[in-house]
Formats: sequence, structure tokens, C-alpha cells
Amino acid sequence: MSPVRFRLSAFLLLAFYVLMKKYWRYLLIVLLTCSMSGLHVWAANEAGLNNGFIVEPYLQLGNHPVQQKEESLELFWITDSNQDLWEVKSKSPKQTHWLQQKPPQKSILSYSVPEKLYLWDNPIDGLEAGEKFQYKVSKNGKEIFAGEAVARKADGQSFRVVLFGDTGADTLAEKKVVYQSYLKKPDFLVILGDIAYSFGRLSEYLSKVFPIFGSSEASAQLGAPLLQSTITLPVIGNHDIAYGDNKSGINFDKLRDALAFYQVWSAPLNGPLKNRSEKDIPKLLGNEENIGRYIQSTDGRYPIMSNYSFNYGNSHWLILDANPYMSWTNQKLRNWVRQDLTTNKEKTWKFVCFHQPGFSIDKVHNAEQRMRLLSDIFQDCGVDIVFSGHAHNYQKSFPLLFRPVRTGGNPSANPDGTVSGEFVLDKLFDGKKNLHPIGVIYIVSGAGGAALYGAAPNLPGATNFIDKFNASTHSLTLCEFKQNELKLSQISEDGQLIDSFKIQK
Ligand SMILES: [Fe+2]
Repeated sequence: MSPVRFRLSAFLLLAFYVLMKKYWRYLLIVLLTCSMSGLHVWAANEAGLNNGFIVEPYLQLGNHPVQQKEESLELFWITDSNQDLWEVKSKSPKQTHWLQQKPPQKSILSYSVPEKLYLWDNPIDGLEAGEKFQYKVSKNGKEIFAGEAVARKADGQSFRVVLFGDTGADTLAEKKVVYQSYLKKPDFLVILGDIAYSFGRLSEYLSKVFPIFGSSEASAQLGAPLLQSTITLPVIGNHDIAYGDNKSGINFDKLRDALAFYQVWSAPLNGPLKNRSEKDIPKLLGNEENIGRYIQSTDGRYPIMSNYSFNYGNSHWLILDANPYMSWTNQKLRNWVRQDLTTNKEKTWKFVCFHQPGFSIDKVHNAEQRMRLLSDIFQDCGVDIVFSGHAHNYQKSFPLLFRPVRTGGNPSANPDGTVSGEFVLDKLFDGKKNLHPIGVIYIVSGAGGAALYGAAPNLPGATNFIDKFNASTHSLTLCEFKQNELKLSQISEDGQLIDSFKIQK
């Protein structure tokens, strides 16, 4: 208790004792209760419950698409002060001393609430593939945060991945899905778009994503400290681009903290769309000075980071932007997809992730089929599974080959957004006895926290390509890789198994 507070309490006690002698015992109890509660708040503030973090440190792959002899990651955190001296050290079990890392880079998060927030980006270098390592963060010479994680794995090492989308809505379901994901101890997490509802604003990340995905306590009611220990890869969805008020672009004069996707995440910068003059990017509108400040705050990640790829273990992952401004009939973009998958053909497993599925029988988005336009490339290049979100449920297709209708040599969509073509379904694959699918399996895992919805009844013209459908519970996808075997499990928010299958190579 501070001396001032003590003197005030004593004075009040004496005054009440003199004036109301008869009731002094009751008054003393009230005063003691107030005083203790004040002491508690003071102690918490003095210790700094969050140590000045607006967002505690979280791990990112950063611009490291392929495996290196020495692995590197990035540690991000957000503060409301730029006056402090930060240091990060790391240590693996084989090292006898803590390794001092390079100092962090600082970005001002434009139009952050409260103004201003600072994003710190600290490289963690010198990691050995697949090794567990510890890290600690010091502020002004005092250690205030510690965590541990596993460096990216090399070919031949087993690993686990969790995927789900449509999540940051601050629902109990989101918390349960994050908690279940944490229990599965994934090596990395892919969020399949619609990360922060409803507009992907920084303020929405601060209230609906980081407190749950970075909760210091792990529970079904709160979420879990998933981001501190797990590399997280983002996929851009329609709710991440704030097109609510203006379909032609994001107006920074209106939504001042929009498009936080490129600020708070850091993924490889090996995509094909590198500058603002490109057509297939989320456009920025409004005052040029505001736009310039936003672009600077993304440290080179806008607009390139919506399409990228990376390797992990014996797998290759291609992340695509499936928003309506993308023209996946554009030959330059199609060539990039084909080249990316071909360059990595030696990898045992190949996966593609994007938000809006090409194959879905849900009742809201079933006619939004433009991503079918890339099916021919996926199957030509031996993609195993395509993961999407957008539809708030779980769907698994039969392994399928789809040949879209072509106009002038390229696959083309119908005016209503549907894409016609021929299906060949492999209904013999069951993932239990027959572990060798013929074709690509398309999975929708969009039950990550936002309100669920079911299948469209009597979908006109639909080929029966969906093998499994579940809209009765929120869920996540777990992929476990061992040598040449993949086991995929769909797990409910309460930890129950909804579906599972295996593939062998
Ligand atoms: Fe969506």
C-alpha cells in the first residue's frame, strides 16, 4: 500500500471511529475490504500483467520459402511505446549459451487504435531444422517473456499441421477450436481466411484474434497460447479485405485500420504480384498520404503476400488469393502456379490453400466456383489436397479430376460465376483400406468459429462430388505426416473425431 493511501485510510478510520463509535466494527470491515482490493489492483499494475505488450510475442515463418542449412523464424510483438530497448535470445538443447539475436525492426502500425501502436519484428536465426528451441525477450535489460517452439523440419522428419478458417469472431466456438488445436501440438497452423471479422481491421485482430489465439491460459473458455509456440501461416479471405463499403477497393479514409493482414503476418514474399499497379490485388483508396503510411507499415508485404509458397518437411504448400479481383484465367498467374508446383515436384506431398472453395455444396457459396479454373493445373502437377474455408462447415470431396470447359484455350467461367466441366470421381478410395486416391481431394474446413450453416437442398446441376459433410459442429483439420503416410482427421470443437482418412505414397 502506498503511504498516501495508508494515511487516507487511517484518517478515515479515525474519523468514523470518533463520529460513529457504535458501528466501528462494521466500518472497519468495509475499509479493510476496500483497502485490500486497492492493494491488489496496485500490485497487478506495478508488476505489469502484460509487461507493456499489446500483443505478446508470436512466431512467424517470415520470408523463408525454402529450407536452409540454418533455419530462421521471426518473432513479432506489438506495443504502445517505442521508447524501450528490446533484445531476443534463443537456445537449443545442444547449445550451452543463449544466442543473442539481431535487434528487432520497428514499424508504426498506421491508424492503430489506440494511436500509435508499434510492431516489432525480431529475426531468430541459427536454428537447426526440427530442433526444439527456447527464446526469451528482454525489455530494457529485464527478461519479461519466454517461449519455446520447434524450428521448421527437414525432409524425412515427421510433423503435424492444423488448418481451419472463418474464425476470428470472438465466439465460444473460436475459443474451443483454438484450444483443441493447441492440444494437438501442431508444428504449424494455417488459417484458411476470414481471420478477423468482419473487415480484417487491426482493432478486430486486437479484440477477436490475438486475445484468443494468444491467450496466456489454455482452456475451452479462453483459447490457448497457440501463436507463441506455433508458426502461423495466413490465407487471405473476403473478410480480410474490408470491401464492405466499397467494392472497388479499401478506403483508408473510412476504415482507418483496415487490411491488417499485411501488417500482422509475415510469410514468404515469393508471389507473382509485386506492386500496386497490378490488377489482381486488393486496391487501396483514399488520401495518398494515408495509403503511403499504410504501405510503409507493411514493410514490403503489401501487396505481394497474398500469394506465396513454402516447404516444410517433405511437403510443399501453395497459398493463393481466391478473392473476386483475382483472374485465374490470366496466363501470367496460371504460369506462376504451374511453375511453383513443378519446381517443387520432388516433394512427396503437395497442397494448395485458398479461401473460397471451387467445390462446395453449402447453401451460401455453392455458386462461387471460380477456383475450379485452376483444377487442371492442380491435377497435372500432382496436388494431393486443396484446403479452403469460406463455407462454414466441413466438406470432403471424393478424389476427383475436373476438366473445366475452355474458351479460346483457357478454362472459363459462366456469367453467373459457376464453372462447368467434366468430373471423374474416385469412389473406390476410402482412406482406410484403399490409401491411394486417384485425383485431388478438396476439403472445406471453414467451421473455425463463425456461425455454421448447412448444405443447399437439391442443388441444381450439382454432381455428387462431396463424400462427407458436417455442419453440426465447429471443427479443425489435423494432418499428421509420417514418412510416406498422411493421416487427416477432422476434429470437433469438443475433441471428437468427425472424419478421418489416410493416404500413402
Ligand atoms: Fe469467407
